[in-house]
Amino acid sequence: MKAHIITYGCQMNEYDTHVVASELVSLGVQLVDTVEDADFVLVNTCAVRGKPVEKVKSLLGKLRKEKARRGILIGMMGCLAQLEEGQAMARKFEVDILIGPGAISEIGKALDAHDKFWDLSFRDDVNQLVAPPPKGALSAHVAIIRGCNHRCTYCVVPTTRGGVEVSRHPDLILDEVEKLKAAGVVEVTLLGQNVNSYGRDNPSYPTFAELLRLVGGVGIPRVRFLTSHPVNFTEDIVRAIAETPTITHYIHLPVQSGSDRVLRRMAREYRREDYLERIRMIRDYLPEAVLSTDIIVGFPGETEEDFAETLSLYDEVGFDHAFMFIYSARPGTPAAKHFEDMPREVKVARLQQLIEKQKAWSLEKNRRWVGREVEVLIRGEAKESGFAEGHDRGNHPVLVPGEQAKRPGLYRVRITEASPHLLFGEVTGKLYVPEPIEAASA
Ligand code: SAH
Ligand code: SF4
Ligand code: F3S
Repeated sequence: MKAHIITYGCQMNEYDTHVVASELVSLGVQLVDTVEDADFVLVNTCAVRGKPVEKVKSLLGKLRKEKARRGILIGMMGCLAQLEEGQAMARKFEVDILIGPGAISEIGKALDAHDKFWDLSFRDDVNQLVAPPPKGALSAHVAIIRGCNHRCTYCVVPTTRGGVEVSRHPDLILDEVEKLKAAGVVEVTLLGQNVNSYGRDNPSYPTFAELLRLVGGVGIPRVRFLTSHPVNFTEDIVRAIAETPTITHYIHLPVQSGSDRVLRRMAREYRREDYLERIRMIRDYLPEAVLSTDIIVGFPGETEEDFAETLSLYDEVGFDHAFMFIYSARPGTPAAKHFEDMPREVKVARLQQLIEKQKAWSLEKNRRWVGREVEVLIRGEAKESGFAEGHDRGNHPVLVPGEQAKRPGLYRVRITEASPHLLFGEVTGKLYVPEPIEAASA
């Protein structure tokens, strides 16, 4: 059998795709790069906002035609599969295999089934799946905790990925990280909806701060983590970051809004001042920390005043970067049930204003790196012709002249110029540039 997987959504979905792909390969399935070459097409879906849902819908429409033409098998996994909205789509577009994020360990059984196979349970063995190192990759993800104990009123994730946090056994995590190191991976990102909660569900497990020290000690030169909830981002975590040299000083701490009224209606469990206090604590320990955030504009009932508070919070923190989203009412969430959505023009105008602010701050923040040397993980050629692209320890995208970094690896780079989106630099040294796989194995 030949399978092709298409992935939408966040890093957790990318990681799950990697896990499922590895399972398929171990079952003798061949992975192919296009729908045309495949007889099994698996779509890993996202449901966090309306846009990714629309994308899945149009893809499934195309796949149904392909199925009518030449009888392919269609599979659906990921967050949308867990929702009634996705299941209705699956029925309409004749999806054969439907497995929720808590049932990806069932992929083998699903392929053996001769009829439709649907599994939406949350299974314990999902956390036991061990992903082998991705071939030739310098950067990899490792899941450390699944599910979310928070109940933000706009969010589908506790429904799709489970409303109870379940930490993965630390031995499995460390084993996976050791294997990544042996395979030459130089950057590992620990993943969870809320990594800060790691270990709270099992007293015999380390805390997140302890886990950071353990993973940081393995020897992979860059260790990062996503995502943090401000409420659970405690001082022991920041101290572990400050005292573990391999952990990068890049902190993504979603704030969502600067208004206490909106934060309350979102059920974020903190106030503006609590968030600012966290930022001060981070800066105390990590004065050079690169800070990014998520912000939702146009949450139901957000007034001009509320929005102004988000803008002023932005100025108070001075984020290096922000991911900004227009509120999208998701079926089944408390916010969609109880609050009225606002006109789209208002939301779009606010987003535009926020983007202007983000650009101005990012330019100012990015300029502070000009003239300094940073470590850049070059991934390969950039879309800007003549350049190679990568990112530094602060997660800034960096471009260097292509002839200075012909192969992926870790380079020392002197930053020469900054834009709101990018840093430009010149390579001043090679830190770790492995031989290409073909040459190394020949
Ligand atoms: N667990 C993570 C990420 C959740 S989804 C966390 O709590 O940070 C990533 C981001 O998508 C959220 O931080 C939020 O900013 C945004 N988001 C989630 N639901 C949304 C919705 N219904 N409309 C718009 N943005 C949303
Ligand atoms: Fe969603 Fe909130 Fe959980 Fe993040 S913390 S996954 S936004 S419910
Ligand atoms: Fe999307 Fe699920 Fe990730 S909804 S953002 S794929 S956790």
